[in-house]
Amino acid sequence: MNTSIYRPSRAVIIGTGAVGTTTAYTLMLRKRVSEIVLIDVNHEKAVGEALDMNHGLPFVGGVKIWAGDYSDCEGADIMIVTAGASQKKGETRIDLLKKNAAIFDEIVKNITKYNKEGILLIATNPVDILSYVTLKVSGFPVERVIGSGTLLDSARYRYLLGKHKEIDPRSIHAHIIGEHGDSEVPVWSLANVAGVALELDEEDKEKIFDSTKNAAYEIINAKGATFYAIALALDRIVTAILQNQGAVLNVSTLLQDYNGVSDVYLGVPCIVDRTGVREVLNLPLNEEEKALFHKSADKLKSEIAKLDI
Ligand code: LAC
Repeated sequence: MNTSIYRPSRAVIIGTGAVGTTTAYTLMLRKRVSEIVLIDVNHEKAVGEALDMNHGLPFVGGVKIWAGDYSDCEGADIMIVTAGASQKKGETRIDLLKKNAAIFDEIVKNITKYNKEGILLIATNPVDILSYVTLKVSGFPVERVIGSGTLLDSARYRYLLGKHKEIDPRSIHAHIIGEHGDSEVPVWSLANVAGVALELDEEDKEKIFDSTKNAAYEIINAKGATFYAIALALDRIVTAILQNQGAVLNVSTLLQDYNGVSDVYLGVPCIVDRTGVREVLNLPLNEEEKALFHKSADKLKSEIAKLDI
C-alpha cells in the first residue's frame, strides 16, 4: 500500500493538568485524532498520564498517545495550550495574567520552532489576552490562533436556558460574547428556539446570566477546578477543524471593527474549519449589548496595555 499519502492526524497538548488531561481523554474516547502527544514541564507527570490512558486503549483502540517534547509538534495539526496556573478560590481569570503570560513566551517559541503550519488553540486563562499574546509571539496568521473564548460560557448559558424552558440545550441558540470572564455579555435580543425569540422575565434573565457568568467560581468553590465542560468545548473546536466542518462556534479571535471594536481578542460567533477561523459573524447587537461589549473590550485592552509585548 502506498503509505506516502497517509499522514496521521496529531494533536499536541501542552500542559497535563486537569484541563489538558481531560481534553486528551475526551479526544481519545471520541477518536478525534490518530495521535495525542502530552507535553509538560513535569515530564514524569506526562508519562504517567499517557500510561494511564494507554492502558484503556484495549477498550477504545485507534489512538497513539505518548508523553513527548516540543519536537513532537512537527507535523501536528493542532497544538492545544492548557499549561499555566488555574483559578483558585476567590481568584479571577485576570489575576492569572502576570504569571501565565510569563510562561507563554517560552511555550509559544518552543512550539513554533518545530511547527509553523498548524493551528494554535489556547485554553489557558485569561484566554483572550493569552491568545493575543500567542498571536504576537508566534507570528501566525490570525485565523490559526484561536482561543476557546466564550464557547464554554455559551454552553453554560444554553444549558441553563434549556433547563429553565425544559428544552434540549442543543436546540437553544443563544450567545455569550466578549471576555471569557467577568465582563462577558449575554445577547438576550437574539436568543431563540427555532427562530422563535426566547421570552423570560427580568428576574429569570438576571438569575440565569448570573449563574452563567459565575459558574466557574461556583464549581471551583465546590470541587477546586473546572475541566469536563472546557474539555468538551476544546474537543468541539478540534472536531470542527479536523473535519473541516465550517461550524459556528463562539471562539476568541482578533476583531476588526466588530460592532465598532478592533484590535482585541474576544469571543464571538466564528465559522471554524480546517483553516481555523474562516469568518467572523457580526451579530446585530442592540445598543445595550453593544455598550457592554465595548466595556468588555476596553477592560481587556487596558490589561494588555500593562504587558510588555
Ligand atoms: C471555566 C474556565 C475554563 O470557565 O475558565 O471553567
